[in-house]
Amino acid sequence: MEAIIRPTADSAARLVARIIAGELRRNPSLVLGLATGRTMEAVYRLLVQSHREDKLDFSLCRTFNLDEYIGLTAADSHSYRYYMNERLFSQVNLDLRNTHLPNGMAEDLEAECRDYEAKITRCGGIDLQVLGIGKAGHIGFNEPLSALRSRTRVKALSPVTIEQNAEFFGGAARVPRRAITMGVGTILDCRRCILLATGASKAEVIAKAVEGPITSMISATALQLHPHCTVVVDEPAAARLQAADYYRWIFDNEPEWEEFR
Ligand code: F6R
Repeated sequence: MEAIIRPTADSAARLVARIIAGELRRNPSLVLGLATGRTMEAVYRLLVQSHREDKLDFSLCRTFNLDEYIGLTAADSHSYRYYMNERLFSQVNLDLRNTHLPNGMAEDLEAECRDYEAKITRCGGIDLQVLGIGKAGHIGFNEPLSALRSRTRVKALSPVTIEQNAEFFGGAARVPRRAITMGVGTILDCRRCILLATGASKAEVIAKAVEGPITSMISATALQLHPHCTVVVDEPAAARLQAADYYRWIFDNEPEWEEFR
């Protein structure tokens, strides 16, 4: 794992967007794993900008989102399909047929989960998975005690997550109780992972995810097992990292990051 500390939320999002754009330029048929949430909004704005100003081409790109609420239709403004259509898919030249999210309205949810895994496999696996992190330490909706080898499945949301997302629904009571999410094992199979976290409210969970012991209580800690995972944080989210100076030193000296400094 590498941790990169940028001065502001904007510069952290810019770095993530540049990494995604770089991977897409290198491989136009990239299989791109996507996340939703507040943190990712800035990244999608920047990707849309790159598409408009620098002709970043999504025409061959295939996407797989991490998760979707159960019981919300694509037309529901709270659904993640709606979020993605609004913020990215309709703003760039992605072919909607190449975009995938779990169907939270499926009659047979278990079959839907199996099918989602099969689709990822048929596409040759995910090349780059973008991740946020919840206050409970989840990636996707892998809530505390998610098995580190779990696959796509239905998961009940934790009270912390319901509280975190309550404002979007006009109160905790309206937040769906369950979601379909890629498993921790599904995420660990992706060839590259990049996690973005910004703001002081993420400082404690980022310190646990990056420097704490691996535990299913904080599914993001499983990323320590991933061979190519980059965690990008802004200064407020880095505030509790013990070895922040070491991470800065690596970023300043590692040739891989030269073009990003
Ligand atoms: C959403 C997802 C979640 C979010 C996380 C952070 O698709 O996978 O894990 O990334 O809850 O959400 P924000 O960015 O709203 O703090």
